[in-house]
Amino acid sequence: MQLRKYAPSGAALVASLLAAPQLASAFYLPGVAPTSYKPGDLVPLYVNAIRPVAAPDALLHSVVSYDYYHPLFQFCKPKDGPESVGESLGSILFGDRIKTSPFELKMKHNETCKSLCEVTYQKGASFFVNQRIKSGVALNWLVDGLPAGQKIHDELTDTDFYNPGFLLGQETQHNQIMFNNHYNIFVEYHEVNGNRDQLRVVGVLVEPESKKYNGIVGPDTCRQVMEPVVLDENGETKVQFTYSVYWLPSTTAWATRWDKYLHVFDPKIHWFSLINSAIIVVFLVLTVMSVLVRALKKDIARYNRLDQISLDDLSGTSALEDGVQEDSGWKLVHGDVFRTPSHPLLLSVFLGNGAQLFVMTGFTIVFALLGFLSPSNRGSLGTIVVLLYTVLGFVGGYASARVYKSMQGEKWKLNIILTPLLVPGIVFSTFFLLDLFLWAKQSSGAVPFTTMLVIILIWFIISVPLSCAGSWLGFRAPMIEAPVRTNQIPRQIPPTTTYLKPLPSMLLVGILPFGAIFVELYFIMSSIWFSKIYYMFGFLFLCYGLMIITCAAVTVLMVYFLLCAENYNWQWRAFLAAGTSAGYIFLNALIYWVSKLSLGGLAGSVLYIGYSLLISFLFFILTGSIGFFSSWWFVRKIYSSIKID
Ligand SMILES: *[C@@H]1O[C@H](CO)[C@@H](O)[C@H](O)[C@H]1NC(C)=O
Repeated sequence: MQLRKYAPSGAALVASLLAAPQLASAFYLPGVAPTSYKPGDLVPLYVNAIRPVAAPDALLHSVVSYDYYHPLFQFCKPKDGPESVGESLGSILFGDRIKTSPFELKMKHNETCKSLCEVTYQKGASFFVNQRIKSGVALNWLVDGLPAGQKIHDELTDTDFYNPGFLLGQETQHNQIMFNNHYNIFVEYHEVNGNRDQLRVVGVLVEPESKKYNGIVGPDTCRQVMEPVVLDENGETKVQFTYSVYWLPSTTAWATRWDKYLHVFDPKIHWFSLINSAIIVVFLVLTVMSVLVRALKKDIARYNRLDQISLDDLSGTSALEDGVQEDSGWKLVHGDVFRTPSHPLLLSVFLGNGAQLFVMTGFTIVFALLGFLSPSNRGSLGTIVVLLYTVLGFVGGYASARVYKSMQGEKWKLNIILTPLLVPGIVFSTFFLLDLFLWAKQSSGAVPFTTMLVIILIWFIISVPLSCAGSWLGFRAPMIEAPVRTNQIPRQIPPTTTYLKPLPSMLLVGILPFGAIFVELYFIMSSIWFSKIYYMFGFLFLCYGLMIITCAAVTVLMVYFLLCAENYNWQWRAFLAAGTSAGYIFLNALIYWVSKLSLGGLAGSVLYIGYSLLISFLFFILTGSIGFFSSWWFVRKIYSSIKID
């Protein structure tokens, strides 16, 4: 597998400069430069949110995550209480809650069975923890920025890899719920150029154990075989927390320390299906396009020839010739194709936001390909997305204004105001409502109030003014003139065949762009819901390209058929038909829900459906806009190549 090389420090500098202005000092991009330690130096161990996980091929039972220091878990705290570690905005949005911990890891000092603290679990707490163990949650620790993982062997490729996180406890065959209170921490270190004073952390594994200690804990206690700790739901349980640290020399260099974490379960299948779909898509698009171009050339030649004939003998038989000429085809609707569609304001606002999303997605994927978004840059994906969306408000405003002007819209003030507010407003309020659910569940996944405030500030102080500036420029720019004049009186639209009716055509058009990204979608879903690290940006780039091509090609084809059937209401039809692929994405999410997740409780389901709806909505705007803009280009092209008197 070809792995991306990690961000060179120059690139990292640019990234932090980009991030600097509005993210203030509380946010930064950590984990880019290597840290070297001397023997005996304290290596920080940070704790992150406790998240539900599922073993490969198992069902996920929950999507609610918890803070490590949630009062019912009662994990040992540092002496002066836990402190939050500075995180980037994207990292917070994606659910990281990194805090300090009481663990003391001294570089190259092995320690066994160090006692941490003793805790008494009451009935309620025991019940809560046991429920979490049953739903399979994992602790997430970070040592020197590396996630502590468990080693997993992949039979298929016969390789070992590190899966971030380790279990809070496990259920035995006899339905006994064991709670892990001892942690064996294995830290791999690498000597830089054989220098014994320059040691770097290159791998972290944790093997948790459940040990019911009787009496005093000493360095040798952990070697003894002991009964597991079971939290009593009908009484009190005393639990002693301990840990051991083992330092293992490693040949892995710092630059490649993430490779073990980035595991593809079946790279061959991944490649195979991608190439497969790419070939099908390219073949289909090429065939369709060549047929379409040939038909168009014929049409145009015929129209222009007929034009010539009718010009040649203006005298006698022109009435008859006219009858032949205007007989059929898309030329008939030339006086109506550029008629303003219904609700031009809403359409232009959607299209502006679609253009913004389109450019943002493109830039994000390019950034990812350049290595900005390596997993060592925690949360960089989220940060970049928010940043780009904010700055590209300008593009949104400009596109929206130009489209609206060309549709002869008159409520230009409303257009300027709605473009930066409508779609982001829908997204933000859905996000906020889902956040309320998480708050109610006391989940750490709830985005803190201060972060919400930062987002609102970024939105109103940077994005809205930029969008307005874009709109202003867009309205000042000359109007995009239609190549043919629009008649005063609209034509009657004849009844159409079944497959050109709105719903069937939408369903037919929408499925192809969805098909182009279907494979990648699976991996993205599992990285979102199973907290797997996603890094296959090369695949993503290809898929995005395929999706754009398919989306444009199929919509253009539909618009051609529509015009041939003398239906000139192509604007909304193109937008909605291309946007239907988002419906398939939502459907796919529902199938995933049924087959891979088993979320007990209302909150989990609401969250899952809510987030899926949100993503589908954005996708709807994006693909709809791709469909519209390509159709617009197509319609302008064909009508400017025929002569109309
Ligand atoms: C620490 O313990 C591990 C495992 O027992 C051993 O391989 C390693 O050499 C030890 N390291 C040191 C510095 O003693």
